[in-house]
Amino acid sequence: MSKSNFVSSIKVGELPEGHMRGVRVKGKPILLARVGGEVYAVSNLCPHVGCEFQGGILTGYIVMCPCHGWKFDIRNGQYQENPQTKLESYRCKTENGKICVEINK
Ligand code: FES
Repeated sequence: MSKSNFVSSIKVGELPEGHMRGVRVKGKPILLARVGGEVYAVSNLCPHVGCEFQGGILTGYIVMCPCHGWKFDIRNGQYQENPQTKLESYRCKTENGKICVEINK
């Protein structure tokens, strides 16, 4: 049985609308982004050659990797050029003024 396990991260006010931020949650590199009032969390390691995304560009729900321009949908981690490639995505919630990310292992 898998137990839900939300781990607190940065404060809600540290992630304004339209911004993204790289954090570590239980040692995992995670990119948090707020779009349309919702917070999304995906793995912060580009599957191309492992750059982090926070220096890239967020346009709507699409983050572009700063290294070579690969684009991913922050809602589900989907790479825009190939449906076989996906970033891991994580559920988020807000609790006690903090963004919490679900880490199951
Ligand atoms: S490392 Fe992200 S596009 Fe190359």
